[in-house]
Amino acid sequence: MQKSKGITIQRHIIEQERLFPQATGDFTGLLWDLSIAAKIISREVNKAGLAEILGLTGGVNIHGEAVKKLDVYANERICKSMEHGGHLCIMASEENEDVVPVPDEFPKGKYVLMFDPLDGSSNIDANVSVGTIFSIYRRKTTGKEATVDDCLRKGTEQVAAGYIVYGSSTMMVYTTGHGVYGFTLDPSIGEFLLSHEKIKIPPKGKIYSINEGNTYVWDEGTRRYVSYLKENDSLTGRPYSLRYIGSLVADFHRNLLYGGIFLYPADYKDPGKPKPKLRLLYEANPLAFIVEQAGGMASTGRERIMDIQATELHQKVPLVIGSKEDVLTYEKFFSQKGK
Ligand code: AHG
Ligand code: MN
Ligand code: MN
Repeated sequence: MQKSKGITIQRHIIEQERLFPQATGDFTGLLWDLSIAAKIISREVNKAGLAEILGLTGGVNIHGEAVKKLDVYANERICKSMEHGGHLCIMASEENEDVVPVPDEFPKGKYVLMFDPLDGSSNIDANVSVGTIFSIYRRKTTGKEATVDDCLRKGTEQVAAGYIVYGSSTMMVYTTGHGVYGFTLDPSIGEFLLSHEKIKIPPKGKIYSINEGNTYVWDEGTRRYVSYLKENDSLTGRPYSLRYIGSLVADFHRNLLYGGIFLYPADYKDPGKPKPKLRLLYEANPLAFIVEQAGGMASTGRERIMDIQATELHQKVPLVIGSKEDVLTYEKFFSQKGK
């Protein structure tokens, strides 16, 4: 066992901060607050099957999807845990149409937080893994108040990103641009302990993850790529195995550890108007930062996810993410498409 395995996330964050001699401790406090919110959400997710909290609120989020109570809970929990720490100037959440300002009574900091409070929430009732995804930027506007422009950024500007997966155990995985670290929650002491150091994704995998029921709306390139993965050719390690949970965080986490590729291509039902599903700021960018730090790739099929300049808070993008060789092969198929 490496000697730092088993240290608490708190200590790890402080040690990471030492890599930046000019750091003020602000960022450390921010990540620490997030890890507390994660523990509280984890507790609620674990109780979901018992509590009345299960079921639909009857509300519909801005994407027109039914909102489960735990989404609302996780969203409120993160906003409440993060607004008073003095680290943030503004937030944006998948569940809120507009930016979430830090209320006037609290001190403002220099960081911007964007998050998907509960990813994969349609799976909760069946006791399947769900997650939280977050992305952190430094403020860029200089006026009195932070604005939406502080959120409309390129993924390359992220200073940290991570996710929490509420699975058979709860894990928090994050990067500050110096490798990817994973912590497992020890429920008996209520601490996240370092369990996965310097995570690297295998350069090529054996797993593909895609909602194959959507084949009829895919572009030609994606269709040919997925058929290719299913051909039998032991020299190139095919066929691949299909694994699709339907919770992005959980699908991504498995592929990060085992190698493989996750794809959510655009829907080409109307070929002139391709419709992607996943969100750039809350889902694609943070996972792209993590996968690149782990040696993998994240692409739309034609461009690097983190190079996209966001123009809307709830912008959606095609997402192809995972082992480098797999994503590169997909890009080749996609460029030869003829949609
Ligand atoms: P969310 O629960 O935050 O709205 O995200 C759902 C996403 C993502 O978790 C998953 O990969 C994808 O939706 C699954 O979509 P399909 O059911 O269309 O396959
Ligand atoms: Mn999501
Ligand atoms: Mn969500």
